[in-house]
Amino acid sequence: MKAVIAREPGGPDALQLVERPVPALQAGEVLIRVAAAGVNRPDLMQRSGSPVPPGTTDVLGLEAAGIVIALGKGVDEFALGDRVMALLNGGGYAEYCVALAAHCLPVPAGLSLHAAAGVPEAAFTVWHNLFELGRLRSGDTVLIHGAASGVGSFAVQCAQAAGARVIATAGGAQKVAMLQALGVWRAVDRHLEDFVEGVNDCTEGRGVDVVLDNVGGPYVARNLAAMAMGGRHVSLSFLQGASIELDLQVLMRKNLSLTSSTLRPKSHAEKARLAVCIRSRFLPWLASGVVRPQIHAQLPLAQAADAHRLLEANANVGKVVLTVAE
Ligand SMILES: NC(=O)c1ccc[n+]([C@@H]2O[C@H](COP(=O)([O-])OP(=O)(O)OC[C@H]3O[C@@H](n4cnc5c(N)ncnc54)[C@H](OP(=O)(O)O)[C@@H]3O)[C@@H](O)[C@H]2O)c1
Repeated sequence: MKAVIAREPGGPDALQLVERPVPALQAGEVLIRVAAAGVNRPDLMQRSGSPVPPGTTDVLGLEAAGIVIALGKGVDEFALGDRVMALLNGGGYAEYCVALAAHCLPVPAGLSLHAAAGVPEAAFTVWHNLFELGRLRSGDTVLIHGAASGVGSFAVQCAQAAGARVIATAGGAQKVAMLQALGVWRAVDRHLEDFVEGVNDCTEGRGVDVVLDNVGGPYVARNLAAMAMGGRHVSLSFLQGASIELDLQVLMRKNLSLTSSTLRPKSHAEKARLAVCIRSRFLPWLASGVVRPQIHAQLPLAQAADAHRLLEANANVGKVVLTVAE
C-alpha cells in the first residue's frame, strides 16, 4: 500500500510517499480502507523529529475515516462494510490502517468520509478538555483561542450546542468571518484587538468561566485576567511557550483552576472511555448537523507536504485532510 513517512527529521519536504505492507490485524482491532486522514499539528512535530510513544509506526497520521474491511478477534461492535472514523496512534496517512475498535466511532449517515476524517482528534480533545476538565455547562461563557483551527472550530460548535456562549480568537479577517458564520458571541482578531478587552466588553467585566488555550506563554496571565470567579483554564498546547511566571494571588482571589492534558499517550482504556462519551454526547450533534467539521482543504495523499505547509503557515480555516479514496 501507499503510505507517507518522514524520510528524516526535517521540514515538509522530508515527507515521502512509500510502499508499505498492509498492517497486520491484531485482536480487538479493525482494518480500515482509508478514505481520508486528518492532518494535525502533532504530525508536524513528529515529522520534525519530536519523539513518539514507543512502538508507534513511522507512518504519520493520528486520525482517519474509511470502510471496515476486516475484523480482529473479539470485535463485535462493527461489521464489514461499516463506515468508521478512528483515533489512531499513527498510520493514518496510508491506504489502509488498523485501529482498536474501541477507538472507532460510527460515521453518521449525513457525514462524508472525507469530512469525518477530521473529527476524531477534535472530538476526543474537545470532549476531554472542554467538558471533562473544563466542566463546561449550559449558560457558561468560554474563551477559545485558535478557534478557527480544526480543534478550535469543533470546540466552538460543541460549546454552543451545549448552551454555552463563545468568545473566540483567531488571526485574520477570513477566520473571524468563519467564526461569525458559526454564530459566536464575539470573534476577536488577535492581530488587531486585545482579547481581554473583548471579554470585558462582552461580559461587562465579569469574565469567562472557561478558557481553552493553545498558546500558553504570555497568553496565560491575560487569560487569567479575563476569567470569572471559579473559572477553569485548560491548556491544549503552548505555541508561545510552556514556561511562565504566575502570580498565584490571582488564582487565590478568583478561585481559579489551571489544568491540561495530552491525548496521544493516554492508555487504550482511557481512550475507549472517551469514545463511549463521544458516542453519546457528540454523535447526535454530528448526525443532526448541529456540529459540522469545518474542512479547509482536501489534498491527495501525495501532497502531504503541502498540507503540512498550510498548517505551518496557520493558513487553514478549519481542518486539512488528505484524501486517499472515494
Ligand atoms: N492536548 C491535546 O490533547 C491536544 C490534542 C489535539 C490538539 N491539540 C492542540 O490544539 C491546538 C489546535 O489543534 P489544531 O490541530 O486544530 O491546530 P492548528 O490547525 O494547528 O491550529 C492552531 C491555531 O493556533 C493559532 N496559532 C498558531 N501559532 C500561534 C502563535 N504562535 N500564537 C498564537 N496563536 C497561534 C493559529 O490560529 P490563528 O492564527 O487563527 O490564531 C492556528 O491556526 C493545537 O495547538 C494542537 O497542538 C492538543
